[in-house]
Amino acid sequence: MRKAAVLAAAAVVAAAAAIVVRQRLREAKRWARAAAVLCDLQERCAAPAARLRMVADAMDVEMRAGLASEDGSKLKMLVTYVDSLPSGDEKGLFYALDLGGTNFRVLRVQLGGKEQRVIKQESVGVSIPQHLMSGSPHELFDFIAAALTKFVASEGVDYHLPEGTQRELGFTFSFPVKQTSISSGILIKWTKNFAVDEMVGKDIVAELNEAIKRKGLVMKVSALVNDTVGTLAAGRYVDNDTIVAVILGTGTNAAYIEHVHAIPKWHVHLPKSADMIINMEWGNFKSGHLPLTEFDQALDAESLNPGEQIYEKLTSGMYMGEIVRRILLRMAQEAALFGDHTPPKLETPYILKTFHMLMMHHDTSSDLKTVSLKLKEILGIESTSRKTRKLVVEVCEVVARRGARLAAAGIYGILKKLDRVTCSADKPRSVIAVDGGVYKYYTFFGQCMESTLRDMLGEEVASSIVIKPVDDGSGIGAALLAASYSQYLQDDEILA
Ligand code: BGC
Repeated sequence: MRKAAVLAAAAVVAAAAAIVVRQRLREAKRWARAAAVLCDLQERCAAPAARLRMVADAMDVEMRAGLASEDGSKLKMLVTYVDSLPSGDEKGLFYALDLGGTNFRVLRVQLGGKEQRVIKQESVGVSIPQHLMSGSPHELFDFIAAALTKFVASEGVDYHLPEGTQRELGFTFSFPVKQTSISSGILIKWTKNFAVDEMVGKDIVAELNEAIKRKGLVMKVSALVNDTVGTLAAGRYVDNDTIVAVILGTGTNAAYIEHVHAIPKWHVHLPKSADMIINMEWGNFKSGHLPLTEFDQALDAESLNPGEQIYEKLTSGMYMGEIVRRILLRMAQEAALFGDHTPPKLETPYILKTFHMLMMHHDTSSDLKTVSLKLKEILGIESTSRKTRKLVVEVCEVVARRGARLAAAGIYGILKKLDRVTCSADKPRSVIAVDGGVYKYYTFFGQCMESTLRDMLGEEVASSIVIKPVDDGSGIGAALLAASYSQYLQDDEILA
């Protein structure tokens, strides 16, 4: 009797042990699968130095092709009609309107010339309702003009508009525009999450002016600028050696100062200066050397603009979080990373923002508390092991590192085009003004980009290249350009 009981107990123990072994085996297999996805990802996203050089060379080649002829390259290399940057002498009251993401901003600034610089400034941000981003131009611009009118009405007595003058506005419009003058331009296409289709091919300043008129506001757009151009102007305002500006935010782009004689496609008129700011629209850069994965290809195919903005889709804030979501979804489906069932929210496109990704990536707590919290809050994943959380961080790291290294290669490409990547005693200092949420808040991204650029340049050349964070180029920079191109300037002031 006792023997039978002992045998029965032994059988139960053996069965339990078998279950544990099976569970462990299953667990090990899941991990092996998840690790295989990660390993494959690391391999495909790798951007070693040699590959980066090829990307940079391709950027240089495409820049030249885009300058040589219209439609000569994926890089539009747009002539901006900005042929001189702020000098510091700008004076007066100017407004700026900044449209380029899910928010737009209006700003006023009182400029006091060389001595007083920016005397006072104020701004308000307004978030754009989702339906207006794909509605009619009329609705979108009426909404913007209403906010602008309200903001102008709140102007205090410490702002001074000279008698007999109209308020002037710098309009930052951060999409590809073929400019027809400093204050007019035709929208080539939308990027990021905008799709107001009727607007494509039309003059956006005319559209804004009409909406301003409908509101009964008296205001004139004196400069239409891309955010990169505004950033270049703001960078130049604080540092005279600024020659390039880069935005790494929801979207990405770069602008730089080019010699007029290096723009063969442009024969409209010669500016008074020998320079012209070029808006590269580098987000649309594409090359066989870019390390693309099946996740990127699927993201692109399902995006609002398939086949377009490929470089932007690898490096910018609108997309990096979405790439991470797609990879985690694959790990959930193939390796049951988050349990037997795929968390339904993980299947929702764009639910995971780059902002969430950076918070998880920057989590330094020993038990990765923030990762756990974000997985729960955003993706509804209730409980995760530390090992799983660590894997999530590694996925973020692979995607961010690739983006940052490619951004560095892009900057290197521009510097190469400008002949600033070799050593010589008389090489001037080159300042690159950088702005945008990804650069500002994603510390890992910014640091990785800078160290990659330094490695590519080598110590000696790197010592003459400065990456400078410039805040609010698309606000202050646009207002400064409105001042530089004010209709009230005397001819001698423009030439000065
Ligand atoms: C736009 C550019 C803009 C960049 C950064 C891109 O999607 O095409 O014009 O400069 O985003 O805002």
